[in-house]
Amino acid sequence: MQNFVYYNPTRIHFGRGQIAALDGELPRAARVLLLAGGGSIKANGVHAQVRAALGPRPVTEFWGVEANPDYDTLMPAVDIVRREGVEWILAAGGGSVLDGAKFVAAAALFDGDPWDILASRGEAVKAALPIGSVLTLPATGSEANAASVISRRAAKEKLAFITPHVFPRFSVLDPETTFSLPARQIANGAGDAFCHVIEQYLTYPAHASVQDRFAEGVLRTLIEVAPRTLAEPADYDTRADFMWAATTALNGWISVGVPQCWATHMIGHELTALHGIDHARTLAIVLPSLLESERDARRAKLLQYAERVWDIRGGDGDARIDEAIYRTRGFYEALGIKTRLSDYGVEAGPIAAEVARRLAARGMDAFGDRGMITPAKAEQILLAAA
Ligand code: NZQ
Ligand code: ZN
Repeated sequence: MQNFVYYNPTRIHFGRGQIAALDGELPRAARVLLLAGGGSIKANGVHAQVRAALGPRPVTEFWGVEANPDYDTLMPAVDIVRREGVEWILAAGGGSVLDGAKFVAAAALFDGDPWDILASRGEAVKAALPIGSVLTLPATGSEANAASVISRRAAKEKLAFITPHVFPRFSVLDPETTFSLPARQIANGAGDAFCHVIEQYLTYPAHASVQDRFAEGVLRTLIEVAPRTLAEPADYDTRADFMWAATTALNGWISVGVPQCWATHMIGHELTALHGIDHARTLAIVLPSLLESERDARRAKLLQYAERVWDIRGGDGDARIDEAIYRTRGFYEALGIKTRLSDYGVEAGPIAAEVARRLAARGMDAFGDRGMITPAKAEQILLAAA
């Protein structure tokens, strides 16, 4: 196991009725900015619960944070925070609203051009306002991590930043708030969480037994509960398992002391920036192709994944790896998530070349766990995902 520092300050309130816990989490007289998306929290009653829990605190509402939250949408919220002396940011919605809150919280206290928060990948951030969240879409893990992904459509950019200053102080996870999710978003959430685990697990052996077993447990849970929660969307227990699986996939528990490879996400973000494909769907396109490309470098872990996650045993190792990659693609397809660029009307040749060009322009000459993914390899991976 590699050396590590473990730090996660987010307090979680999990279960039915937990939105009421907001009252105990926020200071009595706090000036709050409530950040929300396009209206789902109005329709499903979350907004009313939040307002009831906040009681007489002065609250300003900011609506309209879109999927893949945009820099230009969020900057007016930054102005409001500064103008009104907002002290707390409360996000109510999916990962996009939470990520937007993290950006607003950091940008409000940032000295300089707020785009440098993204350009520096978070390193330039020295402080942020406190953030709380009410999560309504299990997927990103943003409710319990220090990451945020912001798009800038005007520049065709989508970049992540990470800084411990934007860990939510608390997050409320009530599975009932997710009952209103359309099937497409449930599938996306499961597909995203699955890939998060893979990118912290499926690299090379690091003698980290707890992290491996934990990661395998989260993967197996997702494989089991994702189709079930799609089929029975109002079953509380299944949805609760799904929700917690998505949080544990990216709250830092399985990443400590192990090599990670975020190349699938890096390449996927380019597909969203260029073609607006849903985040999870970009991962479904890239992941099977990337595993195939890296099958020799990742042989030991692929064999472990085949056996422990998919129960594939016996026979030739190469055949077991073939089967594991086939089942990985099948996991996404069974959720209704297509895994080929052509399924999204995107021609592989031009986009593969453009993504390689953009990665090279950002100086990403060698990324992934051992610097094994180059722009040229990313191009091959996308060509193979045609
Ligand atoms: O805008 P509203 O009306 O709220 O509707 C949303 C949105 O249209 C809807 N929705 C959310 N909760 C709902 C609901 N509809 C009905 N009932 C509910 N309970 O779902 C749609 C998608 O929401 P969004 O927040 O965009 O989805 P998700 O949570 O998948 O977030 C995706 C974003 O997170 C980033 C992605 O890149 C993408 O921008 N990620 C953030 C990460 C992080 N912070 O650690 C890591 C991830 O890898 C990911 O990159
Ligand atoms: Zn993701």
